[in-house]
Amino acid sequence: MEQLNQVLLRDDIRVGADLDAWLARGGGEGLAKALQDPGAIIAEIADADLRGMGGAGFATHRKWMPVAAAREGDKYIICNGNEDEPGTFKDRFLLEHTPHQVIEGALIAAVATRANHVILYVNPHQPLCLAATRQAAQQWQPHPLFVAVERLVGGPVALRVVPSSGLYIGGEETAVIASVEGGFPFPRRKPPFPAEVGVHGAPTIVNNTETLAHVPGILRHGAQWYRDLGIGNAAGTKLYSLSGDVLHPGLYELPMGTSLASLVFQYGGGMLLGKEFKAVFTGGPSNTLLTKRDLDVALDFDSVRQRRSRLGTGAMIVVSEGTSIVRKVAEYVSFFAQGSCGQCPPCKGGTFQLMRLLNRLDTGRAVRADLEALENLCRILPGSGRCGLIDGAVTVVESSVNQFREEYEALLMG
Ligand SMILES: Cc1cc2nc3c(=O)[nH]c(=O)nc-3n(C[C@H](O)[C@H](O)[C@H](O)COP(=O)(O)O)c2cc1C
Repeated sequence: MEQLNQVLLRDDIRVGADLDAWLARGGGEGLAKALQDPGAIIAEIADADLRGMGGAGFATHRKWMPVAAAREGDKYIICNGNEDEPGTFKDRFLLEHTPHQVIEGALIAAVATRANHVILYVNPHQPLCLAATRQAAQQWQPHPLFVAVERLVGGPVALRVVPSSGLYIGGEETAVIASVEGGFPFPRRKPPFPAEVGVHGAPTIVNNTETLAHVPGILRHGAQWYRDLGIGNAAGTKLYSLSGDVLHPGLYELPMGTSLASLVFQYGGGMLLGKEFKAVFTGGPSNTLLTKRDLDVALDFDSVRQRRSRLGTGAMIVVSEGTSIVRKVAEYVSFFAQGSCGQCPPCKGGTFQLMRLLNRLDTGRAVRADLEALENLCRILPGSGRCGLIDGAVTVVESSVNQFREEYEALLMG
């Protein structure tokens, strides 16, 4: 296999919570550069074309700009390490193995925006991450670089680890804010966006753990270096969580824009013996499925979007011929039904009803009217919740019906 330019998973940066080991490997250089020229940070991030790795692929600098421009006062940077969606297992790896890199990224964001609160929001169901981030945060606080950050921000910087509720919904960004404020992670409608009204009303940036982990390298080596790591127009590298019916499931850091075929057949070792590729639940189970015709797609935000799907978190759940798509979708929708916070009746009731219909279909107890009801719900439910949970559940159902209708039809009674 070719030698890859890895920035997140290099063996020599699997240093755990040892700050000296991280600094000895070039850690801290990005932050030191950021401190020399704080006004240039956001432009560097923009030039690097860093995109949010938490699902939406939103341009990171566009999130940071309004917070940097906000008047003085409390400002928050939150590293979102909730990660509870099936098939996604990248952030826990980063927090456990290279927490200093993530913290350095968050401190660079604090320097860029003059934020005086940096919060590492970590899922308590991943106790090793929680322990590593707590230890790492403690190590940063007396370090001269951290003191320099405080000097630049103009006062103390509160670097804290906040355990999340461990619930799936707790990763949605407005739920993150509610949780950090000490409440139940109920999402709220946007706008106002967190950059305007966040924790206790203060301007807030919620970034995914992987997004922040890319930041030190960009500052250290420059935007052009980062862009050159990607393939074609795509910038940087991406962590792909590969699971399902492949020979070598695991976490792969590859150039952004690596093709789906390379990920599955080259890095993933191909399908399990005797199995044939059928489809991929892409970016987690809340997106449009990619199928055999999409094996050539470049796995970057824009190319996947052109196939009417989303790269999302980079989770790739591969299924083989012989796997029931209806069964799989029923399982995922059951996850969403359990994960709904219950605030919005169309989401709570809608996910439950989708699950009920899918279970009837899967067990051969459905008639055509059930399939029609499923499709009807897919038309009326989108946009009916305060957050994106219901939209994700509908997307996977709708996509599976569109692409594998014959499987649904074959399960109907009569
Ligand atoms: C139901 C739901 C759960 C989510 N869970 C997570 C999560 O665990 N981690 C995460 O980074 N983003 C999660 N997101 C996306 C966040 O709302 C937000 O877009 C992300 O943290 C922004 O970071 P980024 O701009 O760096 O991608 C979730 C979204 C929804 C709708």
